[in-house]
Amino acid sequence: MKITILYGTETGNTEMLSEDLESEFGSDHEIEVKNLSDVAPEDLDLTVFHVFLCSSYGDGELPASAKPFAEALGASDTDLSGLRFAIFGLGDSDYETFGHGSEQLADMLVKHKAEQVGPRLIHDAQGGDLAEDLAFPWFEERVAEVEALSDAA
Ligand SMILES: Cc1cc2nc3c(=O)[nH]c(=O)nc-3n(C[C@H](O)[C@H](O)[C@H](O)COP(=O)(O)O)c2cc1C
Repeated sequence: MKITILYGTETGNTEMLSEDLESEFGSDHEIEVKNLSDVAPEDLDLTVFHVFLCSSYGDGELPASAKPFAEALGASDTDLSGLRFAIFGLGDSDYETFGHGSEQLADMLVKHKAEQVGPRLIHDAQGGDLAEDLAFPWFEERVAEVEALSDAA
């Protein structure tokens, strides 16, 4: 399957996780990884499954590399109908605003009529799991869901 992974990061953890996903699943799928800072909302190919990875920063804000994309999307009436996406957050439950960055991004995408596939999962830097231990099975489940949706169509 063609999959585009888009990451929003402040200090690079989300970028590293995106690269880990590409290494793990790149032999089974055609995966492209991009920083959200290099993407405009109107560039999204609505026929491709998009996986967003996004941390939180400041007081539950989006990380720096996701902000221009979010600002452009918020200021536009871009119609994302047909776009299927899944979203994985990186955060830290020491903050009251745990996972708010990925939540904001998911809400914006849905507001612009994209279809969210499966639950948003958030890796907690306070927890004992490595991000990839949560993200790898989550990613496989989301891909299986999209394959089932495509087969049923
Ligand atoms: C200054 C600072 C502020 C943060 N604010 C939040 C926050 O509001 N909510 C949250 O869930 N995590 C917060 N975090 C945790 C980061 O989201 C987490 O460390 C994540 O792995 C960073 O990923 P990145 O390197 O891709 O940006 C914060 C971390 C720092 C250093």
